[in-house]
Amino acid sequence: MEIKSVRGMNDLFGVELEHWHYVESKIKKVFHSFGYSEIRTPALEKIEVFSGTVGDETDIVEKQMYQIITDSETYVLRPEGTASFMRAVLEHNLHSTGQPGRYYYYLPMFRHERPQKGRLRQFHQFGAELINDASPEADAELITVLDQIYKSFEVTEYRVRINSVGCIECRPPYKDKLKDFFQPKLNELCEQCQKRFERSPMRILDCKRESCRAIAKTAPLILSCICSSCKTHHERVKTCLTMAQVKFEEDPYIVRGLDYYTRTAFEFTSELLGAQDALGGGGRYDGLSSRFGKAPFPAVGFGLGMERLMIALQETKRLPQTIQTPSFFFSPLGDKAFELLFPLSLKLKRQGVWCEISYEKTKGLKWLLKQANRLNADFSLMIGDEELKSGSALLKNMKSGTQETLSITSLESELLRRATHAP
Ligand code: HAM
Repeated sequence: MEIKSVRGMNDLFGVELEHWHYVESKIKKVFHSFGYSEIRTPALEKIEVFSGTVGDETDIVEKQMYQIITDSETYVLRPEGTASFMRAVLEHNLHSTGQPGRYYYYLPMFRHERPQKGRLRQFHQFGAELINDASPEADAELITVLDQIYKSFEVTEYRVRINSVGCIECRPPYKDKLKDFFQPKLNELCEQCQKRFERSPMRILDCKRESCRAIAKTAPLILSCICSSCKTHHERVKTCLTMAQVKFEEDPYIVRGLDYYTRTAFEFTSELLGAQDALGGGGRYDGLSSRFGKAPFPAVGFGLGMERLMIALQETKRLPQTIQTPSFFFSPLGDKAFELLFPLSLKLKRQGVWCEISYEKTKGLKWLLKQANRLNADFSLMIGDEELKSGSALLKNMKSGTQETLSITSLESELLRRATHAP
């Protein structure tokens, strides 16, 4: 029987993983320069972290969570990072200083969705969360950080869509207004939207079905219904984004698939991705701690899908062509040469130089050179009986094909001079 990985959960290795490392380290640099420090939470959480907090009517909670049920508890594999983050903040009192706190995470998430391009069951998210800051400037900061991440890869093929989903004061009357609008058209909506009508009528606005979209086109829009303080907040977010030189558009159809948002909601979309066009998204969630039964405090954040960013970078050929390769491939021909080259290879490795050595004792020089070529080493170094006698080593530049003879006594320094050091 052939055992394969779980559908929608991928193995990563080789050049692809090198590319991931390159992208991950650039993203971390952006976070560090904006003052965000890392937080890691466990992959497994008690189900209560998500049910009742992310929203029982959301796809995530309703049908996408992987559950592990034991005699006394139900655990889930984290489907998203914000509720886990909030659980950790409350557990460790990270909010109790009252001061703004900036955090980022890079973690696998698990959602039992139908896999397709850019939609996996295990996917990786970079997320950022800023707590204890209710200002619109904080919202603009988060949008700017996400924008900066894509800019740092010179990606330009995306749109920044922002909206306000109102607050606990102005959203309920808006929802009633929406329901009044959709009520007479209920039969024309898809099954999913009909189900959402009662408790989440705003989700009808972001249904992808053409027939639902056509109906939603004439629905009352939230931006004309939000209260004056939400309006002032929203206007200030836009002003700050303009100051930050982030190109954005207002999109009243952005409602987000998670229930905890208040006021600012945003999505970064890209046509490069096809049907699953969300590169990243987030918003303000001032009420989330109350859903954990604790006093409310302000928070805002975003999540960015790594797999989707990788698709965008691949499609636009923005991934580096040059992948790290060994500086040296050592070919010792015989035991004596091995005794000399083995410790030297370790010395170089310990100084951060990638140096390969062959442990093969029976194959000849031709085979060894092939290995140096296969690994794409910069130089191949050969020592055989003759070289040992004359106290020399043969160094071949694998790119130019030129060869030179080095003295064994100064081998280490000569090699270090030519080496590429680990970044
Ligand atoms: P989300 O919109 O559910 O938000 O996910 C954020 C990003 O994760 C999406 O824009 C997309 O790039 C990626 N993503 C989502 N589902 C999948 C999937 N099945 N396969 C591949 N990529 C996927 C959140 O998760 C919120 N926690 C974001 C947030 C943080 N809001 C405030 N703070």
